[in-house]
Amino acid sequence: MRSEGIVLVTGGSRGIGAATATLLAEQGKQVVVVDIQPEPIAGAILWPAPFDVASEGGVVAGIADIEKAHGPITGLVNAAGIFGRMHRLEKVRMEQWDREVNIDLRGTFMVARSVGVRMAERRHGAIVNVASVAGMTSGPIHAYTAAKAGVIQVTQTLAAEWGRAGVRVNAVSPGFTRTAMLEAGIASGAMNKALMERYAAMNRMVEPVEVAQAIAWLLSPLSSAVTGINLPVDAGFLAGSTWGAYGGLPEPPAS
Ligand SMILES: NC(=O)c1ccc[n+]([C@@H]2O[C@H](COP(=O)([O-])OP(=O)(O)OC[C@H]3O[C@@H](n4cnc5c(N)ncnc54)[C@H](O)[C@@H]3O)[C@@H](O)[C@H]2O)c1
Repeated sequence: MRSEGIVLVTGGSRGIGAATATLLAEQGKQVVVVDIQPEPIAGAILWPAPFDVASEGGVVAGIADIEKAHGPITGLVNAAGIFGRMHRLEKVRMEQWDREVNIDLRGTFMVARSVGVRMAERRHGAIVNVASVAGMTSGPIHAYTAAKAGVIQVTQTLAAEWGRAGVRVNAVSPGFTRTAMLEAGIASGAMNKALMERYAAMNRMVEPVEVAQAIAWLLSPLSSAVTGINLPVDAGFLAGSTWGAYGGLPEPPAS
Protein backbone atom coordinates (compact mmCIF):
# COMPACT_ATOMS: atom_id res chain seq x y z
CA MET A 1 0.00 0.00 0.00
CA ARG A 2 1.35 3.46 -0.88
CA SER A 3 0.86 6.38 1.47
CA GLU A 4 -1.26 8.38 -1.00
CA GLY A 5 -3.99 5.72 -0.99
CA ILE A 6 -5.75 4.12 -3.90
CA VAL A 7 -7.94 5.24 -6.79
CA LEU A 8 -11.06 3.13 -7.25
CA VAL A 9 -12.52 2.94 -10.76
CA THR A 10 -16.02 1.46 -11.15
CA GLY A 11 -16.83 0.00 -14.55
CA GLY A 12 -13.07 -0.12 -14.95
CA SER A 13 -12.84 -3.27 -17.07
CA ARG A 14 -14.05 -1.65 -20.30
CA GLY A 15 -14.44 1.61 -22.16
CA ILE A 16 -13.91 4.95 -20.44
CA GLY A 17 -13.32 3.29 -17.05
CA ALA A 18 -10.61 1.02 -18.51
CA ALA A 19 -8.92 3.93 -20.30
CA THR A 20 -8.96 5.88 -17.02
CA ALA A 21 -7.56 2.98 -14.98
CA THR A 22 -4.80 2.50 -17.56
CA LEU A 23 -3.87 6.21 -17.63
CA LEU A 24 -3.85 6.56 -13.84
CA ALA A 25 -1.72 3.43 -13.49
CA GLU A 26 0.71 4.85 -16.07
CA GLN A 27 0.85 8.01 -13.92
CA GLY A 28 2.01 5.87 -10.99
CA LYS A 29 -1.27 5.68 -9.06
CA GLN A 30 -2.33 2.53 -7.28
CA VAL A 31 -5.57 1.75 -9.09
CA VAL A 32 -8.22 -0.77 -8.07
CA VAL A 33 -10.73 -1.72 -10.75
CA VAL A 34 -14.22 -3.01 -9.96
CA ASP A 35 -16.79 -4.12 -12.50
CA ILE A 36 -19.92 -6.23 -12.72
CA GLN A 37 -17.98 -8.30 -15.27
CA PRO A 38 -14.43 -8.03 -13.89
CA GLU A 39 -11.62 -8.26 -16.43
CA PRO A 40 -8.01 -7.33 -15.71
CA ILE A 41 -6.46 -4.05 -16.81
CA ALA A 42 -2.69 -3.85 -17.19
CA GLY A 43 -1.03 -2.03 -14.31
CA ALA A 44 -4.18 -1.97 -12.13
CA ILE A 45 -5.35 -4.24 -9.33
CA LEU A 46 -8.50 -6.15 -10.27
CA TRP A 47 -11.13 -6.66 -7.57
CA PRO A 48 -12.00 -10.20 -8.63
CA ALA A 49 -15.56 -10.43 -7.28
CA PRO A 50 -18.33 -8.99 -9.46
CA PHE A 51 -19.19 -5.52 -8.11
CA ASP A 52 -22.68 -4.29 -8.95
CA VAL A 53 -23.08 -0.55 -8.36
CA ALA A 54 -26.86 -1.05 -8.26
CA SER A 55 -26.71 -3.33 -5.20
CA GLU A 56 -26.77 -1.28 -2.00
CA GLY A 57 -25.56 -4.12 0.24
CA GLY A 58 -22.90 -5.08 -2.30
CA VAL A 59 -21.61 -1.53 -2.57
CA VAL A 60 -21.41 -0.92 1.19
CA ALA A 61 -19.72 -4.27 1.93
CA GLY A 62 -17.52 -4.06 -1.18
CA ILE A 63 -16.11 -0.62 -0.34
CA ALA A 64 -15.32 -1.74 3.23
CA ASP A 65 -13.59 -4.90 1.93
CA ILE A 66 -11.60 -2.98 -0.69
CA GLU A 67 -10.29 -0.48 1.89
CA LYS A 68 -9.45 -3.34 4.25
CA ALA A 69 -7.48 -5.10 1.51
CA HIS A 70 -5.84 -2.15 -0.27
CA GLY A 71 -5.97 0.88 2.04
CA PRO A 72 -7.86 4.19 1.97
CA ILE A 73 -9.56 5.29 -1.21
CA THR A 74 -8.39 8.84 -1.98
CA GLY A 75 -9.69 8.98 -5.55
CA LEU A 76 -12.95 7.60 -6.97
CA VAL A 77 -14.03 7.39 -10.61
CA ASN A 78 -17.67 6.44 -11.08
CA ALA A 79 -17.52 5.14 -14.66
CA ALA A 80 -19.87 2.13 -14.40
CA GLY A 81 -22.91 2.66 -16.54
CA ILE A 82 -25.22 1.35 -19.20
CA PHE A 83 -26.37 3.20 -22.28
CA GLY A 84 -30.03 4.06 -22.64
CA ARG A 85 -32.40 2.14 -24.87
CA MET A 86 -33.80 4.34 -27.61
CA HIS A 87 -37.57 4.19 -27.77
CA ARG A 88 -40.50 6.28 -28.79
CA LEU A 89 -42.13 7.65 -25.66
CA GLU A 90 -45.09 5.23 -25.78
CA LYS A 91 -42.69 2.25 -25.93
CA VAL A 92 -40.60 3.07 -22.86
CA ARG A 93 -40.85 0.03 -20.57
CA MET A 94 -40.71 1.03 -16.94
CA GLU A 95 -38.52 -2.00 -16.06
CA GLN A 96 -35.97 -0.64 -18.53
CA TRP A 97 -36.36 2.87 -17.06
CA ASP A 98 -35.71 1.47 -13.57
CA ARG A 99 -32.65 -0.49 -14.74
CA GLU A 100 -31.02 2.56 -16.36
CA VAL A 101 -31.79 4.86 -13.42
CA ASN A 102 -30.71 2.19 -10.90
CA ILE A 103 -27.28 1.74 -12.44
CA ASP A 104 -26.52 5.17 -13.90
CA LEU A 105 -27.95 7.46 -11.20
CA ARG A 106 -28.70 5.48 -8.04
CA GLY A 107 -25.52 3.41 -8.45
CA THR A 108 -23.37 6.50 -8.93
CA PHE A 109 -24.89 8.08 -5.82
CA MET A 110 -24.49 4.94 -3.68
CA VAL A 111 -20.83 4.44 -4.56
CA ALA A 112 -20.06 8.16 -4.13
CA ARG A 113 -21.80 8.17 -0.75
CA SER A 114 -20.09 5.00 0.51
CA VAL A 115 -16.65 6.26 -0.50
CA GLY A 116 -17.22 9.96 0.16
CA VAL A 117 -18.24 9.62 3.82
CA ARG A 118 -14.96 7.75 4.42
CA MET A 119 -13.00 10.43 2.57
CA ALA A 120 -14.78 13.17 4.55
CA GLU A 121 -13.83 11.52 7.85
CA ARG A 122 -10.20 11.55 6.65
CA ARG A 123 -10.58 15.14 5.31
CA HIS A 124 -9.14 14.16 1.94
CA GLY A 125 -10.34 12.87 -1.41
CA ALA A 126 -11.54 13.56 -4.95
CA ILE A 127 -14.47 12.00 -6.79
CA VAL A 128 -15.26 12.16 -10.50
CA ASN A 129 -18.66 11.03 -11.77
CA VAL A 130 -19.07 10.19 -15.44
CA ALA A 131 -22.25 11.95 -16.63
CA SER A 132 -22.92 12.65 -20.31
CA VAL A 133 -23.80 15.41 -22.75
CA ALA A 134 -27.07 13.47 -22.87
CA GLY A 135 -27.73 14.87 -19.39
CA MET A 136 -27.51 18.39 -20.82
CA THR A 137 -29.53 17.93 -24.02
CA SER A 138 -32.61 16.00 -25.09
CA GLY A 139 -32.82 12.71 -26.97
CA PRO A 140 -35.07 9.67 -27.38
CA ILE A 141 -33.32 7.94 -24.47
CA HIS A 142 -35.75 9.08 -21.85
CA ALA A 143 -34.42 7.38 -18.71
CA TYR A 144 -30.76 7.82 -19.67
CA THR A 145 -30.99 11.60 -20.19
CA ALA A 146 -32.86 11.97 -16.88
CA ALA A 147 -30.36 9.74 -15.06
CA LYS A 148 -27.37 11.65 -16.42
CA ALA A 149 -28.95 15.03 -15.58
CA GLY A 150 -29.37 13.57 -12.10
CA VAL A 151 -25.69 12.64 -11.96
CA ILE A 152 -24.76 16.26 -12.75
CA GLN A 153 -27.08 17.45 -9.96
CA VAL A 154 -25.86 14.86 -7.43
CA THR A 155 -22.30 15.94 -8.22
CA GLN A 156 -23.05 19.54 -7.24
CA THR A 157 -24.91 18.50 -4.11
CA LEU A 158 -22.12 16.22 -2.90
CA ALA A 159 -19.53 18.92 -3.65
CA ALA A 160 -21.42 21.26 -1.33
CA GLU A 161 -21.93 18.50 1.23
CA TRP A 162 -18.23 17.71 1.54
CA GLY A 163 -16.56 20.99 0.53
CA ARG A 164 -15.56 21.83 4.10
CA ALA A 165 -14.39 18.25 4.67
CA GLY A 166 -11.72 18.45 1.97
CA VAL A 167 -13.48 16.22 -0.57
CA ARG A 168 -13.89 17.54 -4.12
CA VAL A 169 -16.65 16.13 -6.33
CA ASN A 170 -16.83 16.83 -10.06
CA ALA A 171 -18.38 15.34 -13.18
CA VAL A 172 -17.21 14.88 -16.73
CA SER A 173 -19.73 14.76 -19.54
CA PRO A 174 -18.35 12.82 -22.48
CA GLY A 175 -19.75 13.39 -25.93
CA PHE A 176 -19.95 10.45 -28.32
CA THR A 177 -16.92 8.41 -27.27
CA ARG A 178 -15.48 5.48 -29.24
CA THR A 179 -16.09 2.64 -26.77
CA ALA A 180 -17.55 -0.81 -27.34
CA MET A 181 -20.84 0.53 -25.93
CA LEU A 182 -21.05 3.14 -28.66
CA GLU A 183 -19.69 0.93 -31.44
CA ALA A 184 -22.49 -1.55 -30.63
CA GLY A 185 -25.06 1.23 -30.98
CA ILE A 186 -23.60 2.17 -34.37
CA ALA A 187 -23.42 -1.47 -35.51
CA SER A 188 -27.08 -2.01 -34.60
CA GLY A 189 -28.07 0.96 -36.76
CA ALA A 190 -29.55 2.79 -33.76
CA MET A 191 -26.91 5.51 -33.94
CA ASN A 192 -25.46 7.32 -36.92
CA LYS A 193 -21.68 7.80 -36.85
CA ALA A 194 -21.58 10.34 -39.68
CA LEU A 195 -24.15 12.58 -37.99
CA MET A 196 -22.46 12.29 -34.59
CA GLU A 197 -19.27 13.55 -36.18
CA ARG A 198 -20.92 16.22 -38.30
CA TYR A 199 -22.61 17.90 -35.30
CA ALA A 200 -19.38 18.12 -33.28
CA ALA A 201 -17.39 21.32 -33.81
CA MET A 202 -14.24 19.22 -34.20
CA ASN A 203 -15.97 16.90 -36.69
CA ARG A 204 -15.08 13.72 -34.83
CA MET A 205 -15.89 11.48 -31.91
CA VAL A 206 -14.01 11.50 -28.59
CA GLU A 207 -11.39 8.86 -27.74
CA PRO A 208 -11.74 7.15 -24.33
CA VAL A 209 -8.26 8.34 -23.33
CA GLU A 210 -9.34 11.96 -23.86
CA VAL A 211 -12.07 11.51 -21.24
CA ALA A 212 -9.52 9.76 -19.01
CA GLN A 213 -7.19 12.77 -19.26
CA ALA A 214 -9.93 15.12 -18.02
CA ILE A 215 -10.75 12.72 -15.18
CA ALA A 216 -7.08 12.47 -14.20
CA TRP A 217 -6.88 16.26 -14.05
CA LEU A 218 -9.99 16.50 -11.85
CA LEU A 219 -8.52 13.88 -9.49
CA SER A 220 -5.16 15.63 -9.30
CA PRO A 221 -3.95 18.60 -7.23
CA LEU A 222 -3.80 20.57 -10.52
CA SER A 223 -7.55 21.13 -10.04
CA SER A 224 -7.31 21.80 -6.29
CA ALA A 225 -9.86 24.66 -6.28
CA VAL A 226 -12.31 22.95 -8.65
CA THR A 227 -15.39 21.30 -7.15
CA GLY A 228 -19.02 20.90 -8.18
CA ILE A 229 -18.40 21.38 -11.90
CA ASN A 230 -19.50 19.36 -14.90
CA LEU A 231 -16.80 19.37 -17.56
CA PRO A 232 -17.93 18.42 -21.07
CA VAL A 233 -15.35 16.41 -23.04
CA ASP A 234 -17.24 16.31 -26.29
CA ALA A 235 -15.10 17.48 -29.26
CA GLY A 236 -17.41 20.50 -29.37
CA PHE A 237 -20.73 18.63 -29.64
CA LEU A 238 -22.55 21.02 -27.30
CA ALA A 239 -21.03 24.03 -29.07
CA GLY A 240 -21.72 22.78 -32.58
CA SER A 241 -24.94 20.82 -32.42
CA THR A 242 -27.28 23.79 -33.08
CA TRP A 243 -25.43 25.02 -36.19
CA GLY A 244 -27.46 22.74 -38.45
CA ALA A 245 -30.26 25.32 -38.13
CA TYR A 246 -27.94 27.92 -39.71
CA GLY A 247 -26.66 25.84 -42.59
CA GLY A 248 -24.07 23.76 -40.74
CA LEU A 249 -20.60 24.22 -39.32
CA PRO A 250 -17.99 25.95 -41.53
CA GLU A 251 -15.26 23.96 -43.24
CA PRO A 252 -11.70 24.94 -42.28
CA PRO A 253 -9.97 27.51 -44.46
CA ALA A 254 -8.01 26.02 -47.38
CA SER A 255 -4.38 25.56 -46.34
N1 LIG B 1 -19.36 5.95 -24.86
C1 LIG B 1 -19.99 7.11 -24.90
O1 LIG B 1 -20.22 7.69 -25.97
C2 LIG B 1 -20.43 7.78 -23.63
C3 LIG B 1 -20.88 9.11 -23.73
C4 LIG B 1 -21.27 9.75 -22.56
C5 LIG B 1 -21.24 9.09 -21.35
N2 LIG B 1 -20.83 7.80 -21.30
C6 LIG B 1 -20.82 7.16 -19.99
O2 LIG B 1 -19.53 6.70 -19.68
C7 LIG B 1 -19.63 5.59 -18.78
C8 LIG B 1 -18.83 4.44 -19.35
O3 LIG B 1 -19.40 4.09 -20.61
P1 LIG B 1 -18.56 3.30 -21.73
O4 LIG B 1 -18.93 3.90 -23.04
O5 LIG B 1 -17.14 3.22 -21.33
O6 LIG B 1 -19.28 1.90 -21.63
P2 LIG B 1 -18.70 0.39 -21.60
O7 LIG B 1 -19.88 -0.50 -21.78
O8 LIG B 1 -17.57 0.28 -22.55
O9 LIG B 1 -18.17 0.28 -20.11
C9 LIG B 1 -19.05 0.31 -19.01
C10 LIG B 1 -18.51 -0.61 -17.94
O10 LIG B 1 -19.42 -0.56 -16.82
C11 LIG B 1 -19.66 -1.89 -16.38
N3 LIG B 1 -20.96 -1.96 -15.73
C12 LIG B 1 -22.20 -1.94 -16.30
N4 LIG B 1 -23.15 -2.08 -15.37
C13 LIG B 1 -22.50 -2.18 -14.17
C14 LIG B 1 -22.95 -2.32 -12.84
N5 LIG B 1 -24.25 -2.44 -12.55
N6 LIG B 1 -22.03 -2.37 -11.85
C15 LIG B 1 -20.70 -2.29 -12.14
N7 LIG B 1 -20.22 -2.17 -13.39
C16 LIG B 1 -21.11 -2.10 -14.39
C17 LIG B 1 -19.60 -2.75 -17.64
O11 LIG B 1 -19.36 -4.12 -17.35
C18 LIG B 1 -18.44 -2.08 -18.40
O12 LIG B 1 -17.20 -2.65 -18.05
C19 LIG B 1 -21.12 5.30 -18.64
O13 LIG B 1 -21.62 5.90 -17.48
C20 LIG B 1 -21.71 5.96 -19.86
O14 LIG B 1 -23.05 6.32 -19.66
C21 LIG B 1 -20.41 7.12 -22.40
